[in-house]
Amino acid sequence: MIEILKVDQLTKTYGKKGEKQYQALKGVTFSVEKGEFVGIMGASGSGKTTLLNILSTLDTPTSGSVLVNNQDITKLKKNKMADFRGKEIGFIFQDFNLLENLTNRENIALPLSLQNVKAREIGDKVEEIASRLGISQILDKYPGEISGGQKQRVASARALVHNPAILYGDEPTGALDSKSATELLETMKDLNKNDHVSILMVTHDPYSASYANRILFIKDGQIGKELKKDNKTGEEFYQEIIAELGRR
Ligand SMILES: Nc1ncnc2c1ncn2[C@@H]1O[C@H](COP(=O)(O)OP(=O)(O)OP(=O)(O)O)[C@@H](O)[C@H]1O
Ligand SMILES: [Mg+2]
Repeated sequence: MIEILKVDQLTKTYGKKGEKQYQALKGVTFSVEKGEFVGIMGASGSGKTTLLNILSTLDTPTSGSVLVNNQDITKLKKNKMADFRGKEIGFIFQDFNLLENLTNRENIALPLSLQNVKAREIGDKVEEIASRLGISQILDKYPGEISGGQKQRVASARALVHNPAILYGDEPTGALDSKSATELLETMKDLNKNDHVSILMVTHDPYSASYANRILFIKDGQIGKELKKDNKTGEEFYQEIIAELGRR
């Protein structure tokens, strides 16, 4: 098994020394194997966004290490960090984060345009991932002209077009109606199963979490319980998650 992500004793304290400080992460350790779909659940304020921000190099930890493909990303210099983020990380946000004045095609192309990939190759890759996500028909529209579910598909295509090592999602279904949420989750499951995309998804929602193969529960900046789906059905796993949340 290949560990795509290895997080060791990660801590994060907000605020400068001598000022008011808050320790949001208190020694988080876990890893994600290549091709896994891992969920992270936890109450509001438990440290989920803090964790994802560090894992995606948007923020730096106070101590500890984060290895992606065996490279410690917390030790990278600023410019290397941006380069690494552009190449190895895909991110889907709750509120899509699409650029409204670019077409969907241009939005999806962004990670490749920023890497100076040749126009022809960009064109081919955008067509390929759009077809994979069922959005070929809306590429020349603008984000303002499509539905929420379609927007999240465009955002997913943008997150995957450069073939990143890992896909992060921070409540990716949070702004979607239940039908669009299910469609997105089914697509993520399919990408995970058939294209072996490694996924780490933060969510409050037990239904979304039930699509993961493994769930880590974070509480007050620490990982407590872990649940594995194993051979359970989605419904059985969902019931197990609900029961676990009831105990907390
Ligand atoms: N920039 C900051 N400065 C100081 N404290 C912060 C900062 N950002 C977050 N915190 C604190 O760190 C803790 C964890 O915040 P975080 O945003 O990671 O939580 P979360 O699990 O993502 O919550 P939610 O589910 O509401 O999004 C919270 O108590 C929060 O108030
Ligand atoms: Mg958050």
